[in-house]
Amino acid sequence: MRGFQIQLTCKVCRESHKTQVWLCLLVLSLLSTPTCANSVNEAGDLRICLNDLIHNVKKSDAMLYAPGIEDFPDFCKKMVLKCYMLELIMVLDEEEIGRDSQECVRDFNYNLQTTKNDLCPACETYTLQNITTFMDRLMDLLENLNST
Ligand SMILES: *[C@@H]1O[C@H](CO)[C@@H](O)[C@H](O)[C@H]1NC(C)=O
Repeated sequence: MRGFQIQLTCKVCRESHKTQVWLCLLVLSLLSTPTCANSVNEAGDLRICLNDLIHNVKKSDAMLYAPGIEDFPDFCKKMVLKCYMLELIMVLDEEEIGRDSQECVRDFNYNLQTTKNDLCPACETYTLQNITTFMDRLMDLLENLNST
């Protein structure tokens, strides 16, 4: 419950306007938590977090849409990443991974801004792959994002 509150506070803080930032900081200091340490919005941080989750996820026998980097144009990268995040969250729920461990994924997804682009293929148009290929390709994509 406390974790949830903190996460919520972090989100409010990220979205609030400058004038409200001091209030957020005050609230965070009152909660005396290691402030937003769990909020991850960088691809690199997500990769580290996924490395910890990976052995729990590998048990899944789900087949998932998993485009490889060569399967879509560069400007669709964020939309593809969104596809990956939504599927991954589904798997995390299916495998009953705790909310605390999921937080990095959900946070990343929450912060991922995508604008609909009709030139980008829908998630369902890509081929279905097993979880191993899915995770490998997701990691590649994140690495690619991080280096550009
Ligand atoms: C997953 O799919 C890949 C590529 O299709 C295949 O090489 C690999 O053996 C599969 N892994 C499992 C665990 O089924």
